[in-house]
Amino acid sequence: MSEINKRPVILDGDPGHDDAVAWVIAAKCEEFDIKAITTVAGNQTLEKVTYNAQRIAALCGIDCPIAKGAAVPLVGNLIIAPGYHGVSGLDGPKLPEPKRAIENIPAVELMAKVLKESKDKVTIIATGPQTNVACLLLAHPELKEKIEVISLMGGGLRNGNWTAPAEFNILEDPEAAYIEYHSGVPIIMAGLDVTEKAMIFPSEWEEFRNMGNDVARTVAEWLDFFFKHLHEIGWEGATLHDPCAVLALVHPEIFTMKDMYIEIETKGEYCRGETVPDWDNRLGKDSNVKVILDLDRVRFVELLKEYTRKYGGK
Ligand code: BDR
Ligand code: CA
Repeated sequence: MSEINKRPVILDGDPGHDDAVAWVIAAKCEEFDIKAITTVAGNQTLEKVTYNAQRIAALCGIDCPIAKGAAVPLVGNLIIAPGYHGVSGLDGPKLPEPKRAIENIPAVELMAKVLKESKDKVTIIATGPQTNVACLLLAHPELKEKIEVISLMGGGLRNGNWTAPAEFNILEDPEAAYIEYHSGVPIIMAGLDVTEKAMIFPSEWEEFRNMGNDVARTVAEWLDFFFKHLHEIGWEGATLHDPCAVLALVHPEIFTMKDMYIEIETKGEYCRGETVPDWDNRLGKDSNVKVILDLDRVRFVELLKEYTRKYGGK
C-alpha cells in the first residue's frame, strides 16, 4: 500500500501486556502510518509504562516520536494494576532497550502537532485511561475536526472488571471519558462485552513460541505472564482487551457493532466509572458511540497469528 493511502494513527496507551500485543499488531497493519506513541499512567506509573512503550517500539521496529502524557487522572487518585501486569507493568520476557528518546514535549502537544501537520484526519487508538485524549480535546478543541475516530478499549455495558459496574480504564478517569463521550468525535468502544470474549487459550499461543521470530516468542512469553493471574481468578485463557481496538479498524467484519448513546457515571457511590448504555433510547439522544458487542473469536486468534507471522520465520 502506498504511503498516500495510509491512515495516520496515534497509539495512546499504558503498556501493559495487552497494550503491547495491540501495538505488535498495529505495527504490521499496512493500512496504518503510525505517527506517534503517547503514554498515560494506568497499568503502572507513567515512568514505567513509558519505558515499556519505548521498548515495545524497539521490539516492533516502530520508529516514531514517543511522548509522556498524564501521570495522574484528572480528578481521582491513580490506581495501578501490578497484579495483572507485574512490577514493571510488562513483566515476563527480556525486551530490547529503547531506540528512540522521549520527546521534550508532553503527549498532548505531540498529539496536537500530529493533528495539525496531517493533511488527512488522524485515528487515535486509546488503550489506557482516557486522560491524554480528554486533555487534547480540552486544550485544542479546534483540532477535533482532525480526528477521524477514537478507537478505544474501555467500559462494558453489562459488567465491570474492577468494580462490579466499572472497567479499569474508565474507572481510572471517568471525568476524562465523560469529556470524550460528550465531544462529538466519533468513538468505537471495545468494552468488556467483546474484550472478555477476545480470549486466546494456552494451547493456541504455543504456536507463537515456535514461529521463529523474536516478536512472536515475546508475545508467547507475555501471555505466559499475563495468564498467571487470570488463571488464578478463574479464566481459562488470556483476555486480549486492547487488540480489539486495533483490529476493529482493520477487520470490522469479525466484530458485531451497534450505534448507541452511552453516558459515563462520574458520581455514584457504587457506580463511578460505569458506562451506562441507553439500550432502548429512553433519553432520546443521538448515538455517541459505536459499541462492539461480539466477535468471531476463532478469526480473532487467526488474525493475531497472521500479524505476528509478518515479523518473519515460519
Ligand atoms: C484494560 O485495563 C488494562 O489492565 C488493560 O491493559 C486494558 O486496557 C482492561 O480492563
Ligand atoms: Ca491498556
